Amino acid sequence: MSELVRFSLSIPKSLSRKFDRLIRKKGYENRSEAFRDIIRSELVEKEWEEGVIVFGTITLVYDHHKRNLLNQITELQHDNHELIVSTSHVHIDHNNCLEVIIVKGKSQNIVRFKDRLAGTKGVISCRLAGATSGRRII
Ligand code: NI
Repeated sequence: MSELVRFSLSIPKSLSRKFDRLIRKKGYENRSEAFRDIIRSELVEKEWEEGVIVFGTITLVYDHHKRNLLNQITELQHDNHELIVSTSHVHIDHNNCLEVIIVKGKSQNIVRFKDRLAGTKGVISCRLAGATSGRRII
């Protein structure tokens, strides 16, 4: 870990209690570690707003029996092949499939790709989780 800086902050008591409850629930060992994670996630969000090259995952659930859906999803992935790093497919049950697509590219292109998948008829859920650009976020 790089050099640490200490600073104090003032927040209302009620907010502090809620924060402590939240971090206990999430399993953080202390406030510092929780606070570092919050800052990191804000920095990742900022990167996504800036439109730099970022990584993320798109998680899709769909019924593969829906007419033409599998073809449409495959077609969309081929149209956006430059954004796709890797894809994992899991057959959840007789009808439903789960697909996790690891993506890398400009955030706006990734969001557009995710929106097209989400808007495809028969897709049950489609979620995008932004990761990072890979630039060092301490
Ligand atoms: Ni399947």
